[in-house]
Amino acid sequence: MKITVDISGETQVYGIFGYPVKHSKSPQFQTSAFSYYNIPAVYVPFEVKPENLKTAVEAVKALNIKGINITVPHKEYIIQYINEVSEEVLYIGACNTVKNIDGYLIGYNTDAYGFIKGLKELEPNLAGKNVLVLGAGGASRAVVYGLIKEGVNKIYQANRTIEKVFKIQKDFLKLTKFAEEIIIPIPYEKIECCVLDSVDIIVNTTSVGLREEDKPLFNYEAISSKHIVVDIIYKRTPLIETANKKGCKWQDGLSMLLYQGAKAFEIWTGKNAPIEVMKKAILL
Ligand code: ATR
Repeated sequence: MKITVDISGETQVYGIFGYPVKHSKSPQFQTSAFSYYNIPAVYVPFEVKPENLKTAVEAVKALNIKGINITVPHKEYIIQYINEVSEEVLYIGACNTVKNIDGYLIGYNTDAYGFIKGLKELEPNLAGKNVLVLGAGGASRAVVYGLIKEGVNKIYQANRTIEKVFKIQKDFLKLTKFAEEIIIPIPYEKIECCVLDSVDIIVNTTSVGLREEDKPLFNYEAISSKHIVVDIIYKRTPLIETANKKGCKWQDGLSMLLYQGAKAFEIWTGKNAPIEVMKKAILL
């Protein structure tokens, strides 16, 4: 699918800040959505080095860039430079979408929405479910926020650096006084023996599986067909390969990517995101 855009004096600019940003699929699928509605807009990748983030945010105002997505490594650091943030940003501590209203920047986090919207395609009712979350980095915070909001029963959260899970427990006390009962820290070595049987859903939020040489986080062979498995990495990781082999319902990171982007488009334009068009563009 080739998307052509007519550039004129009225063309609006949107984009994504990241470092690196070359791998981003957002320009192709956001452009497809603008094009679907004949909105005169371009969406471009901006490679912003961490030391230039503040200047880049000022440039959003100065150049009247209408909206930006924020990706690694800027999601946390950008918060200090914008005028107002949504409730999600406050709880998650990260911002992936900024809307520019005449020089006033409002930050949103659409990752939690994107993750939950994708997961609900596999399991519409998340309330009361037990979930194993692998990793406790920035991405996991959006996942945990979304799961708590959906009323899950327990979140067993594993991480190499277990202190980060304690920090998440503490931070989410602002969201619910039960954060320490819902989020249970668990070492990777204890997953197979002690929690796998009781969980319904397994979510990988780490970068493990991205590279060939990555060792599995636990024995994936212990996964059974009753588990729903989600990896937020876009490609088919060994975790997803195993889930597929075992007959599990599974999903890679493209669904979360799609739906977080769809929500950003809606925040910017006020129009319903053309999901099928965006999905097609993501798969290009
Ligand atoms: P993101 O914003 O994508 O979540 P991040 O905040 O850097 O990125 O978090 C990366 C996650 O992947 C963390 O949970 C990290 O574990 P640590 O907190 O212990 O560093 C996890 N991770 C990365 N490489 C890993 C590896 N080789 N083994 C286990 N966990 C790993």
